[in-house]
Amino acid sequence: MDNKINWDELGFGFMPVKSNIRFSYRDGKWSDPVLTSSYDITLNVAANCLHYGQAIFEGGKAFTCSDGRVCIFRPDENAKRLNSSARYLQMPAIDEKAFVEAVRAVVRDNIEFVPPYGTGGALYIRPVMFGTSPQIGVNASKNYELIIMVVPVGAYYKGGIKPVRAMIPTDLDRAAPHGTGHIKAAGNYAASLYPSRLAHDMGCSVALFLDPREHKYIDEFGTSNFIGITRDGVYVTPKSPSVLPSITNKSLSQVAEDLGIKVERRPVAVTELADMAEVGACGTAVVITPVGEIVYGDKVFKYGDTIGPVLQKLYDALVGIQHGTRPDIHHWLFEA
Ligand code: PLP
Ligand code: COI
Repeated sequence: MDNKINWDELGFGFMPVKSNIRFSYRDGKWSDPVLTSSYDITLNVAANCLHYGQAIFEGGKAFTCSDGRVCIFRPDENAKRLNSSARYLQMPAIDEKAFVEAVRAVVRDNIEFVPPYGTGGALYIRPVMFGTSPQIGVNASKNYELIIMVVPVGAYYKGGIKPVRAMIPTDLDRAAPHGTGHIKAAGNYAASLYPSRLAHDMGCSVALFLDPREHKYIDEFGTSNFIGITRDGVYVTPKSPSVLPSITNKSLSQVAEDLGIKVERRPVAVTELADMAEVGACGTAVVITPVGEIVYGDKVFKYGDTIGPVLQKLYDALVGIQHGTRPDIHHWLFEA
């Protein structure tokens, strides 16, 4: 296939590729996965994913390494988190090895859509699982689909690693709906759209959510986890039941420790924003996006208009491992 993609212009948008891969759950078991070129699904209007939101998803990436190999970053962690989300929403677990093999198969089948080494792009991997049985009572579905689609992507926030503005929405008349909680589920993100709109209206790219009970502690961004670097160079990230356990944050915490940077996972008071030297958003889609400013009511916290030295070091280390230019000492890469 001649895909004619301009790799340097890629953002984070949908484009059709050659195939996606699908598992179906019927009579209490998952089918073998099947590759298909179709993007269509047939859904009964009474399917509970439409009414009650029994739908979860994941996000991962495959990269072209400097030696030409195509490698997937930690798909085993996506399998574990998908199953954890499935447990919360009473959906069936998938065999982790079968999931990883299906990811490898769909990446291989779409190999010409993996951005070349040096372009800064990646093949984004988006598994989505949803209940399909027609029903009207609030019950778990009997049947499910798990579809793993892929799409070539560049930077999530335009400008690569140029700092973005963030806003903490304060004028909501209820607890701020945070990004996700422990699960990565379709409905949670819809609840973050209104606060994200408020942020966009203030010229900010992303909303930063506080804990929904007291509004005193930082939870996470609408798209990603929060990392603060203190003035004495400590990596601080919120410990909160409302925060999605980010695979990127977990990886960066390990990378930080490998680099001799102290890591603290603890409640982070919003008042600490005044003393942070660097702030970043981290996740599969956003990688590490430096945050240059945080608007919080009538206060504005500023962190500079270029990425800070500690976040740059972490960014280089993570991206180096993902592209095979730094040793993969923790065995995070799975060759497609
Ligand atoms: N937090 C939220 C709300 C997210 O949507 C994401 C991305 O999926 C993350 C955190 C980062 O998670 P990960 O690093 O596993 O992509
Ligand atoms: C990811 O980083 O994989 C996500 O799912 C975040 C989403 C906002 C695109």
